[in-house]
Amino acid sequence: MPSDQRGPSATRTSETAKFEARGLSRTYGHGKKLKVAVDDVSFKIHDKEIVSIVGESGCGKTVLAKMLLRLEQPTSGTLLYDGKLIDSAPDPRQHWRQVQAVFQDPFSAFNQFFTIRAQLKSSFNLFETKPSDKEMEERVDQALLNVNIKPREVDGKYPFELSGGQMQRMLLARIFILEPRVLVADEPTSMVDACSRASILDYLMKLKQQLDMTIVFITHDIGLAYYVSDSIFIMHEGKIVEQGPPDDVTQRPQSAATRQLLDDIPDVHKNWIDRHPAA
Ligand SMILES: Nc1ncnc2c1ncn2[C@@H]1O[C@H](COP(=O)(O)OP(=O)(O)OP(=O)(O)O)[C@@H](O)[C@H]1O
Ligand SMILES: [Mg+2]
Repeated sequence: MPSDQRGPSATRTSETAKFEARGLSRTYGHGKKLKVAVDDVSFKIHDKEIVSIVGESGCGKTVLAKMLLRLEQPTSGTLLYDGKLIDSAPDPRQHWRQVQAVFQDPFSAFNQFFTIRAQLKSSFNLFETKPSDKEMEERVDQALLNVNIKPREVDGKYPFELSGGQMQRMLLARIFILEPRVLVADEPTSMVDACSRASILDYLMKLKQQLDMTIVFITHDIGLAYYVSDSIFIMHEGKIVEQGPPDDVTQRPQSAATRQLLDDIPDVHKNWIDRHPAA
């Protein structure tokens, strides 16, 4: 039973949600080749909330994220941002100033032919008015320091000269420059080892505290989602089969898909959840 009555949304009905989806779907192809990637989902994501979208590979998480980012158009249904249809403004850059992403593959987000620094500076192209060159340089330096990279370490370097983990931190540096209202983080820990994994999560929390953002965090790992979220959405075959606060979803799972995800989590997380049962 989907339980969208639970959690913070139950007490926030009068507030305009950051995102609201009603019967949102995205399909690809036709006839025998029809693929329903996102299938009639409805939800609200409130301002300053951290929502995790959890589900197995291919269940539609990235396609849903791309619709939130206005990179994919819904085939049917409604998607509102701050109460307005997401594609109501003709220029998508207005949306991209406010909603930014950290994607699975950080290399695809950067052009291999330009230096890292030039590309971080080009983030300012999304602004209506660009700051002075000096201010842009200073803000790039500050953003690099925020992700523990000494600006001199990357000067003159191209994306292929950095490791996957460093590139992922570059994506986070972009977020510190752009200061969006919403961050969509799609498997941001996938490229990095377990050690830097913790620190990437720390950066997300730092971003959340420093910029007071809404975060949509996408992962296979319900244990990780449990640590960071105010609310968890479980996706299965394009549908949101369950949503609610982490304690409810992990302690009293309502769907078989949730139980499967709980079975799959590493023991270290399981132990932690068992030691901290819901009140
Ligand atoms: N452009 C596309 N054309 C056709 N099918 C697509 C396209 N993009 C996604 N799909 C299909 O939609 C489904 C959902 O894909 P999606 O990338 O959202 O999965 P996911 O949950 O992000 O998986 P993963 O955890 O592996 O990243 C998949 O079956 C995928 O093959
Ligand atoms: Mg994906």
